[in-house]
Amino acid sequence: MGEVLIKGGRVVTAVDDYVADILVKDGQIEAIARHLPNSDAEVHNASGLMVLPGGVDVHTHMEFPLGPAETCDTFETGTRSAAFGGTTTIIDFALQKQGETPKQALDRRLALAEPQACVDYGFHIILTEVTPESLSELPDLINQDGVSSFKMFMAYPGVLMVDDAGIFRTMRKVGTHGGMVNLHAENGGVIQVLIEEALAQGNTSPKYHALTRPSIMEGEASHRAIRLAELAEIPVYLVHLSAKEALDAVVEARDRGISAFAETCPHYLFLTIEEYDRPDFDGAKYVMTPPLRDHTCQHALWRGLKFDDLQIVSTDHCPFCFSERPFGIHRSKQLGQGDFSQIPNGAPGVEFRVPLLYDGGVGGGKISLNRFVQLTSTAPAKMFGLFPQKGAIAVGSDADLVLFDPQKPHILSASTHHSNVDYSLFEGRQVTGKVEKVFLRGELVVDGDRWLGKPGNGRYQKRSASGRVI
Ligand code: URP
Ligand code: ZN
Ligand code: ZN
Repeated sequence: MGEVLIKGGRVVTAVDDYVADILVKDGQIEAIARHLPNSDAEVHNASGLMVLPGGVDVHTHMEFPLGPAETCDTFETGTRSAAFGGTTTIIDFALQKQGETPKQALDRRLALAEPQACVDYGFHIILTEVTPESLSELPDLINQDGVSSFKMFMAYPGVLMVDDAGIFRTMRKVGTHGGMVNLHAENGGVIQVLIEEALAQGNTSPKYHALTRPSIMEGEASHRAIRLAELAEIPVYLVHLSAKEALDAVVEARDRGISAFAETCPHYLFLTIEEYDRPDFDGAKYVMTPPLRDHTCQHALWRGLKFDDLQIVSTDHCPFCFSERPFGIHRSKQLGQGDFSQIPNGAPGVEFRVPLLYDGGVGGGKISLNRFVQLTSTAPAKMFGLFPQKGAIAVGSDADLVLFDPQKPHILSASTHHSNVDYSLFEGRQVTGKVEKVFLRGELVVDGDRWLGKPGNGRYQKRSASGRVI
């Protein structure tokens, strides 16, 4: 690949803000200076634009099976959508199916992603069976295969849920090798009782998804997860944190010096439980787990982001079409017509994370510009063992760069996004701040509305330790 020169952009990182030229060679940043000569490089004028490190989204689900359903983005369409939204690295999930070992799950997902991925990618492994055989594979997965984080579910009994002993055993095993356990923290047993009660009373509409998953049960499980990690003496990471009660548990632990970390997602920051009051079956579009919460929770989440009690904004991009037409019933919310508990849990969002957080966070005066970069790129890269190759604009880092126009308004819509999914949680919302160009290891993959990337050009990222230093 020839050299690329990005001229006169406002370089914004988690700590810096200055105007400079950036020279890219062999996919990495070669030099940063006030003025660099043009030489033979391909030149991109970035004056008036910000240059951001490529976004790192550590929570996506491409072509992901969830019960009888499967998400409707392939690795190709989902990673292309990510790129258009300024995200150049994702960490997706390898789900250990029944009878499968964690390594087999990883190999299966690697084979699926490798020919398709348009941005760089890694995997967390979802452990569903904590057997001696599974546990014995974990050290090599961390040290040789570059998977240093393992998601476990405290919800979905009989499907994905693992008991406390299994979680604790896993924590003990991975802790000494630089691994971290990521928890889906909700009390699955209690929630199951509430679901059964609601259905028995004939309460079948999407709103009952939210009413049967109360925030105190997220708080309870979060507290339990942190205490288990404390005993195991390893860091812990709570995924898709939505409730004030869960954040309170994180704050309490962090105040005691415990390495408790958490992410939240744009839908919890910008939407509330009122969305479930939409007529007909429309509320199903907002059925994700945990559900949308109230304004008190939303306010607490913004406060958490500002004061670093929450470290990361990820999307939990888990797209199911609303209509069954494009990809069939198994990729559709229609599976849950007449029974909210059968609505596939998950919502799309990989393309809108960066513009939404810029518009609502920085534009809305809730977080600083540097903090915005920290939350969307640098902290996720550090948390999950990708830094400084990712999440940085520095000599020697990968030239994953986003040219971002902070003044440009645009409208978020399913009619213009690049995901396979047929709706957007943010349909019609105007935001200011638009991704103009995206470079993946120095290669221009997005140029305005034009797609220049190629499936298979995304590279698997072997990660170092998770949760150690951020
Ligand atoms: O509703 C959600 N979040 N679906 C994806 C699976 C998970 O729990 O992350
Ligand atoms: Zn989850
Ligand atoms: Zn998820």
